[in-house]
Amino acid sequence: MKNMTLNNIYDQIWENLNDGVKNTKSAFHYPIISTIDLNGFPSTRTVVLRQIHKENKVLSFNTDIRSKKWLEIKSNNNVSVNVYEPNKKIQIRIIGLAYLNYDNKTWQTAWESTPDMSRECYSTPYPPSTFISNPEDIDISLKKIKNKDLEEYKINFGRIDIHIKSIDWLYLIHSGHRRAKFILNDEISMKWLAP
Ligand SMILES: Cc1cc2nc3c(=O)[nH]c(=O)nc-3n(C[C@H](O)[C@H](O)[C@H](O)COP(=O)(O)O)c2cc1C
Repeated sequence: MKNMTLNNIYDQIWENLNDGVKNTKSAFHYPIISTIDLNGFPSTRTVVLRQIHKENKVLSFNTDIRSKKWLEIKSNNNVSVNVYEPNKKIQIRIIGLAYLNYDNKTWQTAWESTPDMSRECYSTPYPPSTFISNPEDIDISLKKIKNKDLEEYKINFGRIDIHIKSIDWLYLIHSGHRRAKFILNDEISMKWLAP
């Protein structure tokens, strides 16, 4: 690992991301996405990585369009993504631009590949972050929708694509850390950095 070339490292980042889509044991399955909130503060949360596209340099995840992050991205689509995989001792920090998919082909395909268990997340009448008096109301509303057609909740479903601008890769090793920067334009610029 320590003697890898920048090209090898770049390919390995995408392999890890690709593995993260399905591998629930990998930290790459749970990227941490930061947006800028409406007061200018960073706003950070974990999501589930749903799809990657190496050639287009895109990562995708699903969310409720009533959520804060959806609103935040509408007003400012600059985002960052962080993953630290302790088993590999690798951190990646991504800067990118987020694009909201709703009522388009990408959105439709994403919904079709969403299983019922995940579709249920979009059935709540309580938009994320609204104040509620009884947490049990969440269970009650979930019980009510059982056996009902989940298709109607597609209205709350959104797919977000992050178009990657740069990746900062850090590999921790006590004999001397390694760090590299990848700038993703039409060409990919690769450089070593001091850790
Ligand atoms: C393991 C884990 C996975 C999550 N996956 C998602 C996800 O894929 N999409 C999502 O919108 N929220 C997901 N969440 C919830 C978010 O972290 C967050 O609490 C919620 O979306 C509200 O965020 P917001 O108010 O910043 O929009 C996940 C949380 C955890 C702990």
